[in-house]
Amino acid sequence: MSTYLRCNDVKSSSYEEKEVTLRGWIHRIRKQKEIAFVLLRDDRGGVIQFTIPSTKAIDLTIESCIQITGNVRKDARAPEGGYEIRGKDLKIFGIARADYPIGEYQSEDLLLDYRHLAVRTRRLSTIAKIRASVLKFSRQWFIENDWLEINAPVIVKDAVEGGSSLFEIKYFDRIAFLSQSAQLYLEAMVFALGPVWSITESFRAERSRTVRHLAEFTHLEAEAPWMYQEDIMKVQENLVSFIVQNTLSNNSADFEFLDRNAKELGSIGPPFERISYGKAVDILRSKDFTLIGENGTRRNIEWGDDLNIESEREITKDCTKPLFVSEFPIDTKPFYVREDPNKPGISLSTDLLAPRGFGEISSGSERETDVESIKSRIVKQSLDPKTYGWYLDLRRYGSVPHSGFGLGIERLVRWILGMEDIKDVVLFPRTMSRVTP
Ligand code: 4AD
Ligand code: MG
Repeated sequence: MSTYLRCNDVKSSSYEEKEVTLRGWIHRIRKQKEIAFVLLRDDRGGVIQFTIPSTKAIDLTIESCIQITGNVRKDARAPEGGYEIRGKDLKIFGIARADYPIGEYQSEDLLLDYRHLAVRTRRLSTIAKIRASVLKFSRQWFIENDWLEINAPVIVKDAVEGGSSLFEIKYFDRIAFLSQSAQLYLEAMVFALGPVWSITESFRAERSRTVRHLAEFTHLEAEAPWMYQEDIMKVQENLVSFIVQNTLSNNSADFEFLDRNAKELGSIGPPFERISYGKAVDILRSKDFTLIGENGTRRNIEWGDDLNIESEREITKDCTKPLFVSEFPIDTKPFYVREDPNKPGISLSTDLLAPRGFGEISSGSERETDVESIKSRIVKQSLDPKTYGWYLDLRRYGSVPHSGFGLGIERLVRWILGMEDIKDVVLFPRTMSRVTP
């Protein structure tokens, strides 16, 4: 494979009047009598204009795949950076049919129906580049801090986050589920490898159509022995800050392209803000914040209610830094969360809320170590204790104090990019109404 230049490489005085060869797709084309003006888009979303005699451009259509050889010229009138290429040789790899379905202004639904083509738009490819950086710097943080990456199965028998949001699948002649979280497997691995982490697709059959719920999302999870609540909060603070800062500097042009004013993100660093659940409820009550009940009636939020999207938005709308909420009532949390021995009824867990109303991006906790209390909470949460036999073994054979957390990659990218709809930051979204493309 020979190396080819990309569009942004050649926009520099060192290439002026030099001959270059670029490959890519036709982003836009304007055929005049003598000359055709073509905007070439390369395979990283960079673009440059080239000109070519119209006689050579007769067959060219939007999205045709081509290679162009020509001389680089500085020309202030050229769009996208003031350089263009005077095309000499044109090679065609694939002509696109003339009915390319995506034009400049399209409805949201059409763009989702044609997501397999829409990923070529500069907006989506720029988001995808930022997402790739978020994944890269996540991995880098764990490598630099000596956590081992593991892979957990996605076909499982047990619910981690409640039975109601499980996807059921036919598994030979039995029933199995798609994993909601790799946590239980990560917990098993802390006994063998110490601090471990994973990136796994997680699945939630949530019937809620919201701007922050997907049926399938990319889940970054971590678990470590001899870590307590404070330690695992520090891990989340440091990791999130590292990802944000490195992505900002690595992708500054991409943030600019998306018109994302990244100034506020620049100051994200540890320590994050902290608030107790009780304080959060007090604040919401003092603002007469109401919850909508099942029959549509409104009532004041009360101690014991979980924090929903609206309450999280209200609490964080003026925050500039992420905020940890701690001391949730134990009954709002899953069976594996440890109860504070010094505060009965209170959990040793936190939700990390992104600022400016973006809401929860991660949940973490100390894990319960007492077999009997896990068992009784499994039953209380209407789950079948029989399927958790292997998990309870972890507490029976040399149990270790440990903590962990799970962070939604789409939730993180959504906040970093300041985008409302979570579907925008995942390449091929899976929602209640959409499983294709
Ligand atoms: O808060 P959750 O449900 O916690 C767990 O699954 C734990 N077992 C994780 C752990 O401790 N290992 O999910 C963790 C995060 C949420 O904070 C959110 O960012 C994301 O996963 N998430 C979703 N993202 C998109 N769509 C959904 N339906 C999501 N559900 C959770
Ligand atoms: Mg949570």
